[in-house]
Amino acid sequence: MIVLGIETTCDETAAALVERRDDGRGRILSNIVLSQIEDHAAFGGVVPEIAARAHVEALDVIVGKAVGDAGKSFDDIDGVAAAAGPGLIGGVIVGLTTAKAIALVNDKPLIAVNHLEAHALTARLTDATQFPYLLFLASGGHTQIVAVRGIGDYVRLGTTLDDAIGEAFDKTAKLLGLGYPGGPQVEREAARGDVTRFTLPRPMFGRPDADFSLSGLKTALRLEAEKIAPLSEKDVRDLCAAFQQAICDVIMDRLRAGLKIFRERFGTPSALVAAGGVAANQTIRKILHKLAFEAGTALVVPPPALCTDNGAMIAWAGAERLAHGLVDPLDTAPRARWPLDSVSRPGAKG
Ligand code: KG4
Ligand code: ZN
Repeated sequence: MIVLGIETTCDETAAALVERRDDGRGRILSNIVLSQIEDHAAFGGVVPEIAARAHVEALDVIVGKAVGDAGKSFDDIDGVAAAAGPGLIGGVIVGLTTAKAIALVNDKPLIAVNHLEAHALTARLTDATQFPYLLFLASGGHTQIVAVRGIGDYVRLGTTLDDAIGEAFDKTAKLLGLGYPGGPQVEREAARGDVTRFTLPRPMFGRPDADFSLSGLKTALRLEAEKIAPLSEKDVRDLCAAFQQAICDVIMDRLRAGLKIFRERFGTPSALVAAGGVAANQTIRKILHKLAFEAGTALVVPPPALCTDNGAMIAWAGAERLAHGLVDPLDTAPRARWPLDSVSRPGAKG
């Protein structure tokens, strides 16, 4: 089956066509992503109003290109999927309404996809990863450790009590006068910094749960920076190195706790899967390798273009749900909040 996927929950306007074969394997036929980074850069973060307007302006063209690049027409499509949340509500409304219109006009089923579910299932598109697996999702808006047990069957084992990891990178970059998005900039500076010069806290370290808290780390970094202001280039590099090291140590510790909980409740995971923009960080990838090795499981990290927000992941999640008969009515509401463990699953209501 072939599914069109639309993603508009944050600052990427994206659409894709993905094919799911009867044996469960997937293939991307087209994947078009228009990033709005430049529209938001001057503000140091995503401005919801600007994002929603940009989605309206771009989406029709992006969908047309996705269908055209795949060499298909709407007739060839078996379903229309859109991210119906969680995310910035203005953008979600644009994507979901467009999907409803395409579904209605072409008489195709609508699949309202949870954006986090799409991140969670991407490893099955790229690597045919088998259930159950442990997902580490780290992006600008989310930091979660999730047991992925089946389609629509997710158990959140850990989350952040305050900032998301990507958000912490972005705030650190802003504080140190680096550009937006902050992750890649902090990573670049950290690579040339002295990791031993500053000592920053490792919040939640050693706790048996798998939750994160990053606001204390952010404050500690700000206090260190204020002590030595004005900052030289070396100061910035060293602060970035200390910050990234603290984040890595925290991820290691929190994921160890998550893996332990997973084993106790669900047995051995088939893989440790990383997703979200933060997984593009090379130092973080190294520690994920180490962790997977230590846990005797495989590490699956989809390529960067499929780790960050994209249409293919929405199309794929739509295809996986459609294959199980999960479709949604045309009056499905967009949702700013939508916890992953509340999505519907085959054979169950909810
Ligand atoms: O998944 P994503 O593209 O969008 C959502 O937030 O949904 O993730 C973007 C986040 C930003 O906060 C960005 O700073 C972070 O991922 N990021 C990184 C790196 N590349 C992107 N964080 C750390 N290191 C990186 N290399
Ligand atoms: Zn995302």
